[in-house]
Amino acid sequence: MWTHTLSSGRSEGRLHRVAQDEEQDTKTQRRRSKSPSSRRAPKNSSPGNLQRMWTHTLSSGRSEDRLHRVEQDDEDTKIYNDDDDEEEDTKIYNDDEDDDVNNDTSSSTSISSLLPSADDIQVVVSKVVEKARKISSDTRREVETYVNSAAPWVTKHKLWNRVLQWAAALVLVCFVAETISPTAYGRFGDSSSITLDSRIGWWLMELPCSVVFVYQFFVVGGPRSHMYVPRCMAAIFCCHYLYRGWVFPYMINTYAGVKNFSIVPAVFSWIVTCTHAYLNAKWFSTWGTHLDRRWVRTRCFKVAAATYYVGLILIIWHDKILRDLRPCPGGKRYCIPEGGLFDYATCAQYTAELIAWFGFWAMSCGPNGAFIFLVSVANLVPRSVVTHNWYLSKFDSYRSLGRSRLVPGLW
Ligand SMILES: NC(=O)c1ccc[n+]([C@@H]2O[C@H](COP(=O)([O-])OP(=O)(O)OC[C@H]3O[C@@H](n4cnc5c(N)ncnc54)[C@H](OP(=O)(O)O)[C@@H]3O)[C@@H](O)[C@H]2O)c1
Repeated sequence: MWTHTLSSGRSEGRLHRVAQDEEQDTKTQRRRSKSPSSRRAPKNSSPGNLQRMWTHTLSSGRSEDRLHRVEQDDEDTKIYNDDDDEEEDTKIYNDDEDDDVNNDTSSSTSISSLLPSADDIQVVVSKVVEKARKISSDTRREVETYVNSAAPWVTKHKLWNRVLQWAAALVLVCFVAETISPTAYGRFGDSSSITLDSRIGWWLMELPCSVVFVYQFFVVGGPRSHMYVPRCMAAIFCCHYLYRGWVFPYMINTYAGVKNFSIVPAVFSWIVTCTHAYLNAKWFSTWGTHLDRRWVRTRCFKVAAATYYVGLILIIWHDKILRDLRPCPGGKRYCIPEGGLFDYATCAQYTAELIAWFGFWAMSCGPNGAFIFLVSVANLVPRSVVTHNWYLSKFDSYRSLGRSRLVPGLW
C-alpha cells in the first residue's frame, strides 16, 4: 500500500485518510462479525453501479462530490486489491461503501422511479421554452400584419376626411358637455322642461344607428358591401343596435309612469349616432380594405372579437340587473344594485359598454371603432363620477361598500 501510494504520488493526507479508514473498517468488521446476516459479498463499483449511483445522487439532491468520492474510492479499492495482505480490508471498505450506497439506493429506488430524471425535466423545459418562443414570434408577426394591412384612415376622399375631423371634434364637445352637466335622462333628467317616457327617449336617440347604417351599407353600398367579412361586421353592428335601439328600450322598467328623458339629448344625440352609423357603414363597405378572411384568421382579431362579445354579454347582464331592481323595497324609485360587477363598481354597466366598444375598435381597426370607443369614454367617464356621487348622497350605507366609480378596484 505504501509503495502504491508513494508511487502514485499521493499526499500524506491521503495516507492518513486510508489509515483512518482502516481503523474504522476494523471497528465495522468487529460489529459485523456479531451479526452474520450483515456479512455480504463485496460489490464492485461497476459502470452499471456508478450509473445507478449517479441517478440516485441526482434524485436525492446530493452534489457531484459524492460521485467523485465514490469514483475515488473505486480507484482506492483497486490499489488495495493489488496488495494481497489488505484484501480483507478492501472488501470491508467496499462493503461499507456499498452498504451505504445500497441502503440509499434501495430506499430511493422507488422514489427515483416515481420522480422524473433531470434529463426528462431538461427536455420538457426546453420544449416549453421553444413553444413559448414560437408563439411570441407568431404573435409579433400577426400584430405587424394586423397594423400594416389596416387601411389608412385618412383617404383622398374629401367628404370622408371631413367626417373624420367632425368626429374628432364631437368627441371633445361630448366630453366637455358631459363634464359640465350630465345628459338629461334617467336620474338626471327629472328637472328637464320637455321630457319623454324613457322607453321612447332611448328608442328615438338610438334610431339613426339602425336606419342610417342600413341605408348607407345595404342601399347605397360600396365596392366591398357584398363581401363576406364586411357583411359579417355589418351583421355584428346591426345585432348590437337591434339590442340597444329596439330590445333595450322596449324592456325598460319605468317607475310609476315617470317621464324623465329630455327631448334635448334624444334629438341632439342624433349628431353622434348619425356620425357613428355613417363611419361604420362607409368603413365596412368602402374604406376598410383590410377586412377580409385573412384578417379574421389572425390571433389579434380573435382576441378582439372575444373582448367585444364578453363586453356585450356584460352589457346585457348589467342592464338586466338594473331592470330587475324594480320594484325596490318600500316602493322606492331607486335602490342599490347588487350582483355582477356592481359589487365592485357603481357604474358597472358603463364598464361593460367600454369593454365592448374597445373590442369592436380592435376588430374593425378603423376610425369607426375609435370614434364610438372615444365618444363613449367622453360620455361615460364624467357620468360615472356624478352617478357615484349621487349614490353616496342618496344611500348612507353606500360608502361602506367601498365600490369604485367605473373600474373595479382601481377608480
Ligand atoms: N355608449 C354610450 O355613450 C352610452 C351612453 C349612455 C348609456 N349607455 C348605455 O346605455 C345603457 C343604459 O344607460 P344608463 O344606465 O345610463 O341608463 P339609465 O336610464 O340611467 O338606467 C337604465 C334603467 O335602469 C333604471 N335604474 C338605474 N339605476 C337604478 C337604481 N339604482 N334602482 C332602480 N332602477 C334603476 C333606470 O330608471 P330611471 O329611468 O327611473 O332612472 C332606467 O330605467 C347602459 O348599458 C349604458 O352603458 C351608453
